[in-house]
Amino acid sequence: MSESELIQVSESGGVMEISIQRPDRKNALTHAMYAAMNAALVTAEQTPATRVVLITGTADCFTAGNDMVDFLSNPPEGREAPVMCFLRQLVEMKKPVVAAVNGAAVGVGTTMLLHCDLVYVARSAKLQMPFASLGLCPEAASSMLLPMIMGHQRAAELLLLGTTISGEEAVRLGIANQLAEDAEYLLLAREKALQLAAQPAAAVRMTKQLLKAPYLDQLKSHMQVEGDLFFQRLSSPEAKEAMSAFMEKRKPDFSSFS
Ligand code: COA
Repeated sequence: MSESELIQVSESGGVMEISIQRPDRKNALTHAMYAAMNAALVTAEQTPATRVVLITGTADCFTAGNDMVDFLSNPPEGREAPVMCFLRQLVEMKKPVVAAVNGAAVGVGTTMLLHCDLVYVARSAKLQMPFASLGLCPEAASSMLLPMIMGHQRAAELLLLGTTISGEEAVRLGIANQLAEDAEYLLLAREKALQLAAQPAAAVRMTKQLLKAPYLDQLKSHMQVEGDLFFQRLSSPEAKEAMSAFMEKRKPDFSSFS
């Protein structure tokens, strides 16, 4: 299976479902997978019959975020890196995007949810943004959107300590709309996506645009600033130690870095 085939796209009832299918790697996202997700979003935006996009993972998880091997061996560079193109396209989407989240949702697995319109989480969901723990910095405008959603201290706990939160906490903190049992979360998300697809499409697009208009420009420029710093951090000794430690299944040692 080629890497881009790890992103499966289907269409039904006006809903494009984008499914991340790499369970042996906890759905970690490679450059090729970001490119495939970006292409699917562009197609959704350009296809009149598509009213809504639904993003989901596999039976045991949403996504473990950036693929560490890919990131170490072939670090993304510059604003045209597939991850940046995907995030920009997600931010720019005029059509509504729904997410169905279960199991691990790490890094971009959580930050992409901040750009979705409706988010449904399973009881098993474990959301985490361990950017600082990995020697990196926040991405996808999370350092702007999280304090807006939940206040500085709660956002700081998630971003500085990389604290993992449950699906229930994600709802309480305002990152997700509704919790469902593991057998139900995808059905619930699909039901809501179909409901949204039946709404008047132009009014839905206009409403989404109005919801985001007050802060969209700031969001895009903040995301760019974060992205540039994130790429710089990837080659930092701290990040190299953190990612090598993950691959070698050991605890990282940051004591020699100041
Ligand atoms: N990149 C590359 N490989 C990854 C990965 C990632 N982000 N996440 C998981 N994998 C791999 C593991 O190395 C492991 O490979 P192996 O079978 O060859 O040992 C396999 O996927 C299964 O992962 P494992 O850690 O054994 O599963 P788990 O259920 O115990 O834990 C996670 C799941 C997602 C909590 C854990 O894998 C994790 O923390 N991953 C890293 C997440 C991360 O930091 N992402 C980057 C954010 S910028």
